[in-house]
Amino acid sequence: MSLVRTNLAILGLQWGDEGKGKVVDLLSPKFRQVVRFQGGNNAGHTVVVDGQSIALHQVPSGALHPGCFLVVGNGVVLNLEVFQQELDRLQARGFDLTGRLMLSDKAHIILPHHIALDLWREGGANKIGTTGRGIGPAYEAKAGRMGVRLGDLHHPETLADRIRPGYEEVRLRLGAGAELPSLERVVESLLRIAEPFLPFIGDTQNHLVAAWERGDRILFEGAQATLLDIDHGTYPFVTSSNCSLGGLFTGTGLPPKALDKILGIAKAYTTRVGSGPFPAEMHDATGEHLRQAGREFGTTTGRPRRCGWFDAPITAHACRTNGVDGLAIMKLDVLDGLDEVGLIVGYRTGEGTVTTKLPSCAADWKGLKPEVKYFKGWASTRGITSHGKLPAEAHAYLEALVESVEVPIAYLSTGPDRAEGCIYPGTFLEPLLA
Ligand code: GDP
Ligand code: IMO
Ligand code: MG
Repeated sequence: MSLVRTNLAILGLQWGDEGKGKVVDLLSPKFRQVVRFQGGNNAGHTVVVDGQSIALHQVPSGALHPGCFLVVGNGVVLNLEVFQQELDRLQARGFDLTGRLMLSDKAHIILPHHIALDLWREGGANKIGTTGRGIGPAYEAKAGRMGVRLGDLHHPETLADRIRPGYEEVRLRLGAGAELPSLERVVESLLRIAEPFLPFIGDTQNHLVAAWERGDRILFEGAQATLLDIDHGTYPFVTSSNCSLGGLFTGTGLPPKALDKILGIAKAYTTRVGSGPFPAEMHDATGEHLRQAGREFGTTTGRPRRCGWFDAPITAHACRTNGVDGLAIMKLDVLDGLDEVGLIVGYRTGEGTVTTKLPSCAADWKGLKPEVKYFKGWASTRGITSHGKLPAEAHAYLEALVESVEVPIAYLSTGPDRAEGCIYPGTFLEPLLA
């Protein structure tokens, strides 16, 4: 076993879209394996290189580095049609993944009736504000033992029997009038779409265990974030996977000792797309300013994101849940030019007391008002590459942020491009990147 302890997890600490894609792309050249372990094409991870932006949904964000082997683990749910489109877009931009991609034979397939069920539910009163990509129904089919896995594609003769139980339940639920393709069409089109992927399907658990034993550096790319985690998020307004640390182990088949460090990713403010508790939300001109300055419109669905100040209690909860070693604070530049910058340090309850404890029930979030501490604003941090060059006011704000979540900053991002940002000296990222 290698003594070089550098396997690193990148995990979102808020409600997603923190900038995980940028950080994974930035760090990927130092890693041999880049691994997705949960989620599906509900994720939208943006990588910006020389002003050109590339959105990745299911392909790991190490794709732009030819030295990276890309792994899609068993915990992921995959839409193969969308995966093909992603590969085609990458190919068109000169990124060829041949020979450096493996998809787990245990990963589940998102089928057309999963998408239909997701959209049907979202048309009703109990909508969650999902991405409409069939993620929930695909994970439900998995837990209900009616899922279809990539490995099943090697047995085309029994595929209809694998798909039928889940398909029929959805048909019953949606009723006779629902516009679902016939089971025969689902099977036929899946086999056609899946054909080019057959050589990529394999035993990713064995692949990763062998890579770990050889001492390959492994980078784990989380999708979504802790507040969207099915257990530790703002249930029921969450996604259907464990996007916090536990999902990494179930989603790859690697044991906890295969992981060495955890980098938590958070914006210097907070956003959320979709419904659910969001005490930080600002419906005023400042909220709109953050949305415009931060271009806070979803990578996957284009929906406007809800915006507010940095919420320390939710981020501290995420740090505890994941055992975060260091923070990557993203999009500091979006706060540039404001007279004052707010930091939510707690919530005032209906009784007038201040708490930092997160409610477990969605109903208990109602009535919580953010307790905001204000800091003097600064002119510009855009593109700064050394933390010593930050304005004193930005330093003061970041120091208070660190104090409130009790985890040090390891990386600071000051713009979307790879080059815009800085590793903090003396942190665990420094030797890793040396
Ligand atoms: P992810 O889902 O966590 O990978 O994040 P997204 O890609 O959905 O959203 C983050 C957005 O912020 C992307 O458009 C990034 O290009 C952009 N971004 C990342 N870091 C920075 C930064 O430091 N400053 C600014 N202005 N934009 C950033
Ligand atoms: P990345 O990886 C932000 C949200 C949806 C919805 C809830 C459930 O780019 O950070 P789902 O389609 O998963 O059943 O939707 O989760 N959501 C995300 N929000 N970023 C994401 O991914 C998200 N993936 C899902 O908006 O509120
Ligand atoms: Mg995103």
